This record gives sequence, C-alpha cells and structure tokens, in this order.
Amino acid sequence: MGKRFSRESRCFKTARVFPTDVNNHNTLFGGKLMSYIDDIASIAATKHCRRPVVTASTDSVDFLSPIRPSDAVSLEAFVTWTGRSSMEVFVKVVKEELLTGERTIAATSFLTFVALDENRKPIEVPDVVPETEEELKLHETAPQRAEMRRLRRQESKRFADYLTVTHPWD
Ligand SMILES: CC(C)(COP(=O)(O)OP(=O)(O)OC[C@H]1O[C@@H](n2cnc3c(N)ncnc32)[C@H](O)[C@@H]1OP(=O)(O)O)[C@@H](O)C(=O)NCCC(=O)NCCS
Repeated sequence: MGKRFSRESRCFKTARVFPTDVNNHNTLFGGKLMSYIDDIASIAATKHCRRPVVTASTDSVDFLSPIRPSDAVSLEAFVTWTGRSSMEVFVKVVKEELLTGERTIAATSFLTFVALDENRKPIEVPDVVPETEEELKLHETAPQRAEMRRLRRQESKRFADYLTVTHPWD
C-alpha cells in the first residue's frame, strides 16, 4: 500500500448563509454546518484512498464562533492520519464577514472514515504524508486522538449493551 500527501485529499467549499439555513438566533444552524462538514470530509477521505468510504465517527465538532447571514462560510478538509482501514479527517471552518473581509475560525472538526472493499469490508488505505506546519502538527497529535477514539468506541459498545430497542408505545 502506497503513500499519499495530505494535500492530495485537500478539499474546499464556500457557501452563503441563506435564510433557510439559520436557527432562531439568526446564525447558521449547527445541523446544517455538520452536514457540510460530513460532506466535505467524506470527499477528502475518498480522494485519499480512492475507495468507497463510510463515516465511522464524528469525533468532535467545536463551534467556536457563530456564523451570520453576512458571512461567507468556507470549509477546508484533508486527511491527517491513517490506521489500517481508517482515516482521520480534519475540517477547518472559516467565516468571512463579506463587507469587511475579516476572517475568523468558526469551527473545527475531526471525523473518522473507513474504506470499504467490494464486499463492504474494511480494506487497507495508503499512509498519509504531512508537509505543511498545520498538517505536521495534526499528524503528530493524531495517535493521542486515535487512542481516545479506541477507548470511546469500547465504552459506546458497552453502553449499547444496556440499551433496549423497544419504543415507549410497544
Ligand atoms: C465503520 C464500520 C465499517 C467498521 O466496521 P467493523 O466491522 O467494526 O470493522 P473493524 O472493527 O475491523 O474496524 C475497522 C476500522 O474502523 C475503525 N472503527 C470502527 N468503528 C469506529 C468508530 N466508531 N470510531 C472510529 N473508528 C472506528 C477501527 O478502529 C478500524 O480501524 P483500522 O482498520 O484503521 O485499525 C462499521 O461499523 C459500519 O459500517 N458502521 C456504519 C457506518 C455508517 O453507516 N456511517 C454513516 C453513513 S456513511
């Protein structure tokens, strides 16, 4: 299995904030932003491995600053780290006040995708090679996040054993 640079998976998306995209605070609805995040991250993961991928987990989404209708919202995503079949993708969300040009980091997110073979089983992905300072920092800190994911996955499996599938009206 070969190697791919982080830049080979890098994707960008910029959008306006339309009236149908806002919540009752007149700022971008969190669910809308999460949909943009999952969308762009899945493209970055697919570009890295050139295989079908699924979202295994949205590890974190931190909403740092509200996005208003006068802002353009830009997302940047790239693969930061790989396991055997899993890929960690980082998404950076920047808002730009269109009339002043002022830019602010509005949100950051980490997600994990898994590459699937023809039988929808996890399959090996290429290693990732970071180059820029940002990519190197994210790559270097990734094993710690991978360990946290491993522990959280164990915990969520244990938790699922306690949950029932009955509805209140059953
Ligand atoms: C993600 C999925 C393919 C993993 O399958 P699985 O049979 O559990 O596979 P494994 O236990 O062998 O794990 C495969 C890889 O996924 C990773 N993984 C599995 N579940 C994970 C989770 N919840 N969070 C992070 N990584 C996870 C494992 O760490 C492993 O990584 P590695 O190969 O790099 O070591 C499976 O759980 C699945 O299909 N889930 C539903 C996905 C989905 O519907 N997403 C939403 C729509 S795209």
